Amino acid sequence: MSQQPARPRTADELRRAWDDFFAARGHTIVPSSGLIPTHPSAPMFTNSGMMPFVPYFLGEEPVPYSPRRAASVQKCVRAGGKHNDLDEIGRSPRHLSFFEMLGNFSFGDYFKPDAIRWAWEFVTEALGIDGDRIWVTCHVSDDEAEQIWVDDVGFPIERIQRLDKDNFWEMGETGPCGPSSELFFDYGPELGPAGGPANPDAEHRYVEIWNLVFQQYFRSEDGRLSDLPTKNIDTGAGLERILAVLADSPSLYDADVLSGLVDEAQSVTARRLGDGELSDIALRLLADHTRTATFLVADGVVPSNEDRGYVLRRIIRRAVRFAYMLDVERAVMPPLVERCIQIMGGAYPELVEGHDRVVDMISREEEGFRRTLARGSVLLDSALDAVPQGGHLPGQVAFELHDTYGFPLEVTSEMADLRGVTVDLEGFDSEMAAQRERSRAAGKRTGVAAGESADAERALLAEHGPTVFTGREEETTSATVLAVIGDGLFLDRTPFYAESGGQVGDTGTITTPTGTARVVDTTYALPGLHRHTFELVEGTIEPGQEATASIDAERRAAIRRNHTGTHVLHWALREVLGEHVKQQGSWVGPDRLRFDFAHHGALSQDEIRRIEDLANHEILDNASVRHYETTMEEARRLGAIMFFGDKYGEVVRVLEAGRHSTELCGGTHVGALGDIGPLKVVSETSIGSNIRRIEAVTGTGPIERLRLEEDRLRSAADLLGVPTEDLQGGIEKRLAELRSAREELKALRKQLAGSQADELVDAAVDGVVVARIDADSRDEVRDLAVALRDRPGIRAVVLGASPGGKGVALVSAVAPDSGLNAAELIADAARTVGGGGGKGADLAAAGGKHPEHLDEALEQVRAAAGVAG
Ligand code: ALA
Repeated sequence: MSQQPARPRTADELRRAWDDFFAARGHTIVPSSGLIPTHPSAPMFTNSGMMPFVPYFLGEEPVPYSPRRAASVQKCVRAGGKHNDLDEIGRSPRHLSFFEMLGNFSFGDYFKPDAIRWAWEFVTEALGIDGDRIWVTCHVSDDEAEQIWVDDVGFPIERIQRLDKDNFWEMGETGPCGPSSELFFDYGPELGPAGGPANPDAEHRYVEIWNLVFQQYFRSEDGRLSDLPTKNIDTGAGLERILAVLADSPSLYDADVLSGLVDEAQSVTARRLGDGELSDIALRLLADHTRTATFLVADGVVPSNEDRGYVLRRIIRRAVRFAYMLDVERAVMPPLVERCIQIMGGAYPELVEGHDRVVDMISREEEGFRRTLARGSVLLDSALDAVPQGGHLPGQVAFELHDTYGFPLEVTSEMADLRGVTVDLEGFDSEMAAQRERSRAAGKRTGVAAGESADAERALLAEHGPTVFTGREEETTSATVLAVIGDGLFLDRTPFYAESGGQVGDTGTITTPTGTARVVDTTYALPGLHRHTFELVEGTIEPGQEATASIDAERRAAIRRNHTGTHVLHWALREVLGEHVKQQGSWVGPDRLRFDFAHHGALSQDEIRRIEDLANHEILDNASVRHYETTMEEARRLGAIMFFGDKYGEVVRVLEAGRHSTELCGGTHVGALGDIGPLKVVSETSIGSNIRRIEAVTGTGPIERLRLEEDRLRSAADLLGVPTEDLQGGIEKRLAELRSAREELKALRKQLAGSQADELVDAAVDGVVVARIDADSRDEVRDLAVALRDRPGIRAVVLGASPGGKGVALVSAVAPDSGLNAAELIADAARTVGGGGGKGADLAAAGGKHPEHLDEALEQVRAAAGVAG
């Protein structure tokens, strides 16, 4: 008997066994690709092993493997879109939002018989799983697959079931798809009723471990299926699920890649699995969400309020929220992320490379969210106090928390739930609807009814096709007026650039034999259809007329300089800050350019200088600018920077701005970099978490800035009454005068406070001072309270004030041996002024909303201190 190789038990062993098995069967072993898919038909995240291979399934690119087979262990995230397991995480021990998928693939090479036979061999021989505990499902239409299982493998037909939707796999709303055959492991009667995977009540007992998809079709946006050029194999087996089966455990969290994280979660929360339902959910969720967040950040996703960034933000926040619900007050994510990188970094070196950035970004997201939680929680707690057990929290409160405090509805619901209260969801929805209505009404434009003009525009496009754009070559074009719809003028050809890709629309004039129109903006009414928004200067303009269309050439030249300048700036930013700088948006107008990009933290003055220097050097080198059409495939080969969502197969425009910058761009540009003129950054700000915005000027812009600055300096010098050259000396002199005046003021204030303090001490009853005072800030109230308490013979001091006339500040300070408790002294009073707070025994402070009840509240303090009346 030949010696059996050792059976894998750990993730490392299983990954190796997988690679060895399929390499021996002619497969090229392909490393995992990133979690952000590149194919236009792909969903938000790489959700399965097949995604990097989509161009081969679709026949868009030649298959680089010979034979045409591949195998991989692919990192996957299922959190959004069609395959979204997020809500199950933690509640079920069988779902993960991040997991590794083992997959073997054939691109028009082998098909069902080999795929099925190898799956069986790997499971029963390489892994040594008992074949009697395996069940199989096939698609209702797929007799062929069933027959292969029975005839080639000798699998008992009694354990094959035929399903419909469950045996048809699709990548997303669009993309490759096909019937499938799945292998299930039977965990035995303790985990559910008999009846096989087809029994909907037995999902805990029969767990899917491997999906063999026979990729044959493509689903397009309109929902239709068409044949793929070849018949393909795409299989997926969950690494964690297989490890669980090998350990005969129904929980994926026992796999070595997760158990270490559950351990870490136990230590940061001081809870153990089995302590209770909520803490069990939390521990699993922390382990799972940590992996997902760590991998997403390592792959370049940044927490934000949009798109992928939003999903990432939700994942981090959900983890933090669960820790918060377990009363864990210190940050939990940093140690969890560290541990995750330790565990997974061997197989995924990008985690080790990105270590600092990943830990930093996730930690900062946690910090920020904890502040939100703390603020909103005070409001939510007091609202919940007012609702009896089993009652409803008004939808308006949930809405206010959402709208003002950034508290997601789920957070409110979950917290309410813990106190036996449900949120009035209908009320919440109607508040949301009302808000939407308000913003819609605010955004509505006057003019022709939108519906009618949209119909007319569609008809125009259908009849005449897209507007011919001549504006790359010409500033003036002869054209025919096709239609006037509302304040929109439509031509068959136009030199006017329609706003797109961040570049603003052109302005100019259109004249016909009977009239002249001033074009104030140009936009796309529909893709390809230029709409010139106009104001009539004189006469009339009629459809069918010959027209002369001229853009404002100076303005366009300035836009061109700023637009090419944006590309040079983008390049310089990446050079100085790093490749993670990803464009998030841009705006290019005649007077300036704006560029938004992902980056953590503000740029230093030195970084900005280096970026400017680099950009200006590049410009002065005066390399020529090439702008040409090519195919998407060619652009990708050239390494052009492109965005997700740029359509595959399309003809695109590539802009080579000098030797370093190659990007897809449909805008208008200068002929050589020197035409841009000087480039100067004028501001750098944050416009959201981890998104920065740079504004810059080019051409004559820097000169105009310089003049503006000169004017400013001159008026500042005039104000001080000194010549511009002496500005600094003049300011220093004024500052010195100000300083001495301030010191004098401070001394006078102190004198005044001393006599106020004396008065308060004199008025003490039984060593207790309770008084209303005037103060400008909470700190001032506290400082005075502490100072008075330390005076001889004083046992306790409670001061109330309404700093700046807004709200109430109550401070209570007691001497250590007074026998009084600072927080208790003001507990009732705090409620009377509509607030809460302070827990300290020696020093406590509370806020409140009702200054009008302050005197009453202070009376309560006197009663509490036993010095009333
Ligand atoms: N692509 C298939 C899946 O993810 C194998 O289940």
